[in-house]
Amino acid sequence: MTAFGNFGNFQNEIYLNGLGGVLPALPVSHDELESRARAALPPSVWSYVAGGAGDERTQTANVTAFDHWGLVPRMFVGAAERDLSVELFGMTLPAPVFLAPIGVIGLCAQDGHGDLATARAAARTGVPMIASTLSADPMEQVAAELGGAPGLFQLYTPTDRDLAASLVERAERAGYKGIVVTLDTWVTGWRPRDLATANFPQLRGHCLANYTGDPVFRASLARSPEEDPQAAVLRWAQIFGNPLTWDDLPWLRSLTTLPLIVKGICHPDDARRARDGGVDGVYCSNHGGRQANGGLPALDCLPGVVEAAGDLPVLFDSGVRSGADVVKALALGATAVGIGRPYAYGLALGGTDGVVHVLRTLLAEADLIMAVDGYPTLRDLTPDALRPVR
Ligand SMILES: Cc1cc2nc3c(=O)[nH]c(=O)nc-3n(C[C@H](O)[C@H](O)[C@H](O)COP(=O)(O)O)c2cc1C
Repeated sequence: MTAFGNFGNFQNEIYLNGLGGVLPALPVSHDELESRARAALPPSVWSYVAGGAGDERTQTANVTAFDHWGLVPRMFVGAAERDLSVELFGMTLPAPVFLAPIGVIGLCAQDGHGDLATARAAARTGVPMIASTLSADPMEQVAAELGGAPGLFQLYTPTDRDLAASLVERAERAGYKGIVVTLDTWVTGWRPRDLATANFPQLRGHCLANYTGDPVFRASLARSPEEDPQAAVLRWAQIFGNPLTWDDLPWLRSLTTLPLIVKGICHPDDARRARDGGVDGVYCSNHGGRQANGGLPALDCLPGVVEAAGDLPVLFDSGVRSGADVVKALALGATAVGIGRPYAYGLALGGTDGVVHVLRTLLAEADLIMAVDGYPTLRDLTPDALRPVR
């Protein structure tokens, strides 16, 4: 792990390097990160990652929702030292951020092994990685790159319950520290950018390593995925999406003793019911606006979910593009904030270094905002610290 604390010091490093004529090799603003990633990625991968559902208004609203809140500066606080560390599921994290699961992250790396590169970035920073079910490399190999950093495994629950159990069991054995069940993607949302190019990476056989290496999945095939890759993809398409109901929650709960977190919760009643059903954490997210257009920004759903979740931790993502966004989501009650597309762009530009760079820029800004505005710890970041922007 690199020296990762004192996040704001990253700017001193940049200015000092500048004295020697060295400029940052990677972008420090999100807009530049995005435009350079666009140029670096193959067009089909770019549109899959950057695109969302419908005309992408929900996706855009996720981002602009942060503009509606402002942090009130407090003076004479002397916030010379900031503490951004957080306790989550019995772990102490260096910062209240995590790498959200991204199913095609494998393809975002120049060498096609973006899951491994992301795990190495987690290892270097201690920032947890939530590894997607849809990965180019199997979860065991991803876990092996995590070093001491925590990994959580994100489960897309297949209709084959034995396969679901096998995936969870493998995650436990590989050392993952929690199971994140994504609820909003049992069917793919209407995504015009991908539809226009008829591009769905998994149907082309990408990012299915967790399935093709799974003993239960393999046993369901007449011929091995190596002998008949088409049949494996077809089988995957048949079993991928399980439209779960509340009746399935006890079964999901029974699959693991690891912390169970449900992703995609936006309604307080759903948060309450999930808590009553024995989950250990609630993950407020609308999948970055990739699944259903015509929705609310995830940030607007966060306070209600936080209230309903009671003493459960609430993870949050969707639209986080800056350190300021991280601070605002924390003030609205998130326990930890998920970084999504920005790290995919960092990966596209600089591999593991690119992901580390994105985390450092976000955390430097968050830390310096807390310094300037007088909020030295996460406990100080409450809804009272925010005002609506008129
Ligand atoms: C290309 C891409 C693939 C994704 N794949 C997954 C996935 O496999 N599992 C999952 O739970 N969420 C997945 N997500 C959603 C992210 O975990 C997260 O909710 C989303 O990226 C947040 O929105 P933002 O990136 O706009 O901030 C994916 C997102 C993107 C952009």
